[in-house]
Amino acid sequence: MKRILTGLQPSGKLHLGNYFAVMKKMISYQDHFDLFLFIANLHSLTTFQSKELQLDYTYDAVADFYALGLDADKSTFWIQSDVPGVTELTWYLSNSITVNQLSLAHSYKDKVSRGFNPSGGLFFYPILMAADILAFDSDVVPVGKDQKQHLEITRDIAQKFNSEFGNIFKIPEPEIDEETAIIPGVDGQKMSKSYRNTINIFDSEKDLKKSVMSIVSDSAGIDEAKDPDKSVIHSIYSLFLNESEKKILRERFLTPGLRYGDIKKELFELILEHFSPYRKKRDELLKNKDYIESQLKKGKEKAETVIQQKLSQVRKVLGISRI
Ligand code: TRP
Repeated sequence: MKRILTGLQPSGKLHLGNYFAVMKKMISYQDHFDLFLFIANLHSLTTFQSKELQLDYTYDAVADFYALGLDADKSTFWIQSDVPGVTELTWYLSNSITVNQLSLAHSYKDKVSRGFNPSGGLFFYPILMAADILAFDSDVVPVGKDQKQHLEITRDIAQKFNSEFGNIFKIPEPEIDEETAIIPGVDGQKMSKSYRNTINIFDSEKDLKKSVMSIVSDSAGIDEAKDPDKSVIHSIYSLFLNESEKKILRERFLTPGLRYGDIKKELFELILEHFSPYRKKRDELLKNKDYIESQLKKGKEKAETVIQQKLSQVRKVLGISRI
């Protein structure tokens, strides 16, 4: 079975954009592949805000995944820092890439060109990511377009290391989601935390309603037909529908008589209903941290077994281990 591995930085509240573009798909992989999935809380140190946020975001991400159906027995799911061997591997791999190559990484270059003085952590970021991937013999790594270059760096590092020390690392294939259906936020731009235009799945009902009611619409009156292709409400609503339901919604937009306020209320109810079982599960989970920890331990142990094997191979070829 193919091993699919990916990491997600903990970044705050889960919104519809993350859910439909990333999480839903990841969780479905557990039924078809050997899924390795982790919360990249070492990477998120490069944008550290506070220890509280660091912890909360990590825990929230874990609770979100479990609530939405990720199963600690079907997959290997862990918190990156629980398996610290990746940092050791990062050091070993750092000798198989040049400063020159690293300074070409967009994540680093962009910061420099915007006048920032990037940290060493940001510079090393791609090596830590390579370690994440190579430690676990990943076959396929699904990532967003912005991570494409990091995957190329990973492959370069693996090839360089292998050519010097033997066939230690599997060369991973990227699976770049080119057209991750862009999910619009309430203002019509791509839904993203940094644009403050998100609809957060597990917000209180009141806040959720406020976000949905704030979705932009044009000035078409009740008695006019509405253009579904230009409507943000229509695109978000459609995420929840099957093909025949989508047709009906289209027709409703095209037929005069539709009131934006009403359709937004309807959408709010639909979102609430769709996520209500998950919301319940998430609340229960957060009341039972011992259970969460016991599930996380399973992931940590499975990941640990795999990485320790790889590390002992690497230590051997590098003349680090003496036995
Ligand atoms: N850098 C990735 C991101 O920000 C997260 C990540 C860390 C990752 N390690 C990884 C993704 C390994 C894939 C594989 O999205």
